[in-house]
Formats: sequence, structure tokens, C-alpha cells
Amino acid sequence: MRRPIIAGNWKMNMTSAQGVRLVEELKPLVADADCDVAVCVPFTDIPAVSAALMGSNIRLGAQNVHFAENGAYTGEISAQMLKEFGVEYVIVGHSERRRMFDDTDEVVNMRMHAALAAGMTPIVCLGETLEQREGGETERCLSYQVEHSLKGLDDVSKIVIAYEPIWAIGTGRTATAQQANDTIAYIRKKCAEVFCPKCAEKVRIQYGGSMNAGNCKELMAMPEIDGGLIGGASLKAADFAAIVRYNK
Ligand code: 13P
Repeated sequence: MRRPIIAGNWKMNMTSAQGVRLVEELKPLVADADCDVAVCVPFTDIPAVSAALMGSNIRLGAQNVHFAENGAYTGEISAQMLKEFGVEYVIVGHSERRRMFDDTDEVVNMRMHAALAAGMTPIVCLGETLEQREGGETERCLSYQVEHSLKGLDDVSKIVIAYEPIWAIGTGRTATAQQANDTIAYIRKKCAEVFCPKCAEKVRIQYGGSMNAGNCKELMAMPEIDGGLIGGASLKAADFAAIVRYNK
């Protein structure tokens, strides 16, 4: 059985002090969680939030990583820099980065390998646009992303995949549980073809896109959905805790 993983993606929200307050509030609320819990925070929040999470069941994640070990990359952050602060997860290939910061599948792939090489678990985001969904291109888009973003993996179950339909992010328009389930089933089938059936059965695939306290139960009840990547609703302790405790 796959252990669900619920992760918050704070995006560019929360100063370090605000972030610490949020996790202090969150810790007791999610202490009895039956799933893996993580918060993916802005780089500058990492040191203080890392210290605040010590001894809790909440794991620390970042939202991006550069692919080189070090060097002349002004403004970038390496995997080793994250690792030193106890970062265990790194989001790569979020659609906001693909769209606004030119993260191509090739770049996403390099970031994923850099995170793995440093011993962290990449959360690789995949998802189609509304145009692709409406034009019947969803499977073609996801198939391309699996082949190119995840290229060179020996075992796909070493990563976490986040299926985030772009039209559902920050829009309040969630994919239906059935839509999310069927699309994730397709991603898993594609992983079985490209990698191996056994590791495709093991890889955890989250749903992301306007997931909240109200719809999480229905989404999490679907057999293919192994967790959530939560944006807006991860910024309030009570809301995020309600998602983490979806089965309580
Ligand atoms: P929202 O939950 O705000 O729609 O964001 C989803 C997301 O992009 C998580 O990475």
C-alpha cells in the first residue's frame, strides 16, 4: 500500500517569522496524522522553519533547486545548501515555474536528478492546460511530461509525482475526484510503460489544484490519489490540518 503524502506549497507567501508561527500552530494539530506531512517553504524561511519543526512529524520541503552542484549561478540555490538545513523534499517543475520562469522539461529533469543525487525526494509536478484538456490533449501532454521530465530515472518510486491540472490551480475550480483519479491512473500506466510496472505501482501520485478541507475527503477516497499538494489552503493551520486529517 502507498502511504499518502500531504504537502503544503506556500509559494511566495510567509516571511520567516510568519512561517514559524504557522508551523508552531500546525504541529499539535497534525501530530496524529496517518500520512506523511510536509511544508514546502520559501528559501529564506528554511533555517527558522527547520528549527521549529525539529522533533515533529512535519517534514521540510523547498520549492525549487538548481541543477548544478555549485558555481557561477547568481541568485540560485543548490541541493547541498538545502540538504544542510534538513530539507527532505523539493518541488520541481511547478507549472508556475514552467510558465513564468522557463522551466522546460529538460531543466525540470536536471533539477530532479540534482535533488535525488543529494538524497532528497523531488516532488515533480505535471499537468495540462485548460486548452489541452478541452482539446482532448491531456494524455498526450502528460505522456510527454512523463517521458521528458522524468527521463533517466532507474526507479520512478524514488520520486513523488504531483498531478496539478493548470486550470485547477488557484482558481477554486477543482478537478472532479473521478477526473483526478482517472488522470492519475493514466500517469501511473504511462510510468509502468516507461519505467517498470512494479515501481509504477509504488510511486506516490498526489493531486494538486484547489484542494481544500471541503473536497479533500472525496479526493483522498479515490484509489489512485495518494495525497495532495496544497497551495492556498496550506497557509492557514486549521485548513491545512483538516486536509492532513482527512481520514479522522
Ligand atoms: P492551490 O491549492 O492554491 O490551487 O494551489 C495548488 C498548487 O499549485 C500547489 O502546488
